[in-house]
Amino acid sequence: MVDTRVSLAGVMLQNPIIPASGVYGFGGEFRDFYDPNILGAICLKGTTLEPRFGNPTPRIAECTAGMINSVGLQNPGVDAVIAHEIPALREFYHQPIIANISGFSVDEYRECCRRIDAHVDIIEVNVSCPNVHNGGMTFGTDAHCAAEVTKAVKSVTKKPVFIKLTPNVTDIVPIARACEDAGADGLTLVNTFLGMRIDIHRHRPVLANVMGGFSGPAIFPIALRMVYQVANEVHIPVMGCGGVRSASDVVEMMMAGATAVQIGAATLRDPILCKTIIEELPVLLNKLGYERCDNSLRLCRQ
Ligand SMILES: Cc1cc2nc3c(=O)[nH]c(=O)nc-3n(C[C@H](O)[C@H](O)[C@H](O)COP(=O)(O)O)c2cc1C
Repeated sequence: MVDTRVSLAGVMLQNPIIPASGVYGFGGEFRDFYDPNILGAICLKGTTLEPRFGNPTPRIAECTAGMINSVGLQNPGVDAVIAHEIPALREFYHQPIIANISGFSVDEYRECCRRIDAHVDIIEVNVSCPNVHNGGMTFGTDAHCAAEVTKAVKSVTKKPVFIKLTPNVTDIVPIARACEDAGADGLTLVNTFLGMRIDIHRHRPVLANVMGGFSGPAIFPIALRMVYQVANEVHIPVMGCGGVRSASDVVEMMMAGATAVQIGAATLRDPILCKTIIEELPVLLNKLGYERCDNSLRLCRQ
């Protein structure tokens, strides 16, 4: 028997598998396919202080081995998430909940965190959304700004704070270190890569917003490389994310240094993928000779 439990900055998960923010809404969508209580945790859709309608359509473009989205943080606002979405989820789901918060100023991040704090187990701070102007990714491409957001959020919560980083930078390590120094309890990496498609028949971009965030299997080796680089430079847990679509991808992420693994675009293609991976992971680990999901998997240990 393989022990699949992992600890994320003190929060125990029964396994390391988490649907990434944005692909599972606020938790109800996949309920018809399987019982979400088998998941390690659920990461909620990005939540902002005010409700957001999101970007104009079309906002999804298919690509070879992936997709581009420019959803633009569509959500009903933090107060509605607290009043309706989280209570509805808690009615049938009893595992940890990860909030994913975004903002357009440091004050907005702080206030959104302050409000949602009591209702979730972990706060994931998205400083990496490529689909909004004057916010999102702007905070995550600059080490100083990422640190400021981290400090602000940490000042209003005792819950573990994971900063979700963007891969759209030359060197992700100094940004990861700045977040750790500013008090982050963990890091999630990566968010999507800025991309675009052109409709050659209409002679215009496919997406109404022109550019969007590219994710899916094509980004796996790059996300893995970033997890490896960062996990070996920081002393806080990393949630690996980007292109994961199988139990063996999960094991690679953990060998690179991830404590838990988030799965995004691949769950849109195969809605029961998280369930399949949760079933296959212990079998694979057993075959590989591991008894638990811990540091023994890592290529380089801290
Ligand atoms: C449709 C869609 C919506 C997303 N919305 C969010 C979001 O609200 N907040 C966030 O931090 N990341 C969001 N993401 C990014 C994912 O959480 C994840 O970081 C990224 O897609 C890379 O993982 P993947 O290759 O497994 O999809 C979204 C991704 C997709 C495909």
